[in-house]
Amino acid sequence: MAIRVAGIAGSLREGSLNKGLLRAAVELAPAGMEISIYTRLGDIPPYNDDVFQQGDPEPVADMKAFIGSADAILISTPEYNYGVPGVLKNAVDWASRPSGKCVLNRKPAAIMGCSPGLGGTIRAQHALRQSFVFTETYVMSQPEIKIPSAAPLFDASAKLADEKSREYVKKFLEAFAKWIERFKD
Ligand SMILES: Cc1cc2nc3c(=O)[nH]c(=O)nc-3n(C[C@H](O)[C@H](O)[C@H](O)COP(=O)(O)O)c2cc1C
Repeated sequence: MAIRVAGIAGSLREGSLNKGLLRAAVELAPAGMEISIYTRLGDIPPYNDDVFQQGDPEPVADMKAFIGSADAILISTPEYNYGVPGVLKNAVDWASRPSGKCVLNRKPAAIMGCSPGLGGTIRAQHALRQSFVFTETYVMSQPEIKIPSAAPLFDASAKLADEKSREYVKKFLEAFAKWIERFKD
């Protein structure tokens, strides 16, 4: 049976490079891995524990079902002010509840990212990893995808066109498939 991966890009922007990077991952996934892209990040309300106590709003329940039905999670994140974009962190906070019984618990994951500047999202990626400590989400350590000066690597439709980068993504996903296998029951 194919490995099902829930793909989430941490940007709401139509022309997002990180959405483009995630679409490249869908294209370049190894045989036996299917990556689906989550499209409703903008529908997730700000986290409010009073609301959570009354029951998840529909978009949150939908996101949890999306993640819960997958074998693993693949996140492509931009970097905002040296950290994780608020919309993505907010979604992770919702996904982390109920504590100890959430869809992130003991699920393999991988993080990648690209930026038009020189940082390549490495600070955001490290910050995002911290959110996955308490949830025991098993984030792959190596290899890493952190692509700086990324804008020219994409074409006008935000498709990752650069062959070298596509090769990195391919190798990254091959390693991710092996990583996921380690956690199979
Ligand atoms: C509020 C804000 C903060 C940003 N902070 C950073 C940053 O800390 N480091 C960085 O490399 N780029 C930063 N950028 C630039 C983003 O890397 C750039 O907008 C990128 O294209 C966003 O990813 P996306 O194309 O997937 O939407 C920032 C952009 C915004 C809007």
